[in-house]
Amino acid sequence: MRNLTDTDLTEAVIASFNGSERFKEIADSLVRHLHAFASEVQLTEEEWFAGIDFLTRTGHITDDKRQEFILLSDVLGLSMLVVGINNRRPPEATESTVFGPFFVEGSPAFENGDDLGAGAPGEPCFMEGRVLDLNGEPVPDALIDVWQADEDGFYDVQYADLDQPRGRGHLRSDADGRFWFWSVKPVAYPIPADGPVGELLAAGARGPMRPAHVHFKIEAEGFQTLITHVFADGDEYLDSDAVFGVRSNLIGHFEHHEPGAAPDGSEMDVPFWTMRYDMVLAP
Ligand code: BEZ
Ligand code: FE
Repeated sequence: MRNLTDTDLTEAVIASFNGSERFKEIADSLVRHLHAFASEVQLTEEEWFAGIDFLTRTGHITDDKRQEFILLSDVLGLSMLVVGINNRRPPEATESTVFGPFFVEGSPAFENGDDLGAGAPGEPCFMEGRVLDLNGEPVPDALIDVWQADEDGFYDVQYADLDQPRGRGHLRSDADGRFWFWSVKPVAYPIPADGPVGELLAAGARGPMRPAHVHFKIEAEGFQTLITHVFADGDEYLDSDAVFGVRSNLIGHFEHHEPGAAPDGSEMDVPFWTMRYDMVLAP
């Protein structure tokens, strides 16, 4: 292990790892790609220090409310790559997309027809759909978790002074697989850009915006869990999502209505929106 050339060094580091087969597979590949990267760009020592400083600051800003490493993975496209590798499904099944950092375990329980917005600022939006299997048969009693940003582009957890959930909750599909609830019309919003990931985006002359969307996580016995979004049609950021999460068939139609009767029979005295989207689960 002396006088190693660049290539010998890579092989020596790989040979130094033992452990399980899977650990070695991952460690070997990581070292090979990491060394190849540094060699390819002829990394300077100053750049190496800048990289260490970047990762150190990414760690320091991360706590139980903010996960800068997930955000980094998201903007590097790693999250969507991992989603793709792990969610190969039949074409009829609804596609997955990024989980994002704003899911909260233990969201409030709602019944169909309730208002998940729970006071979130925004234009009222009635959302409905069915949970179906690959043959179009209803999936009853599916657990449907929903979370979204308000009209100012913030999730409830981003408000330091808000101690109530807002724009999030869970409900269950009925015997026909149907679900329906009120919330607010989602808007495009920037991912948190006031930390190291924001600096990375600025250095690359990239924007922080995500197209308007509503997050869904759907679990049902005998089916793969689906983590996805419904994106709003017509959004100006559909082709420049900061985290590369858009799939064409996840774009839903949000329809604007003047005051009047809503699909659930309620009488609206303000303009409102409706959106219908079916979720198809793979076994
Ligand atoms: C989100 O959609 O909530 C999200 C996803 C990735 C990074 C930041 C936010
Ligand atoms: Fe989101």
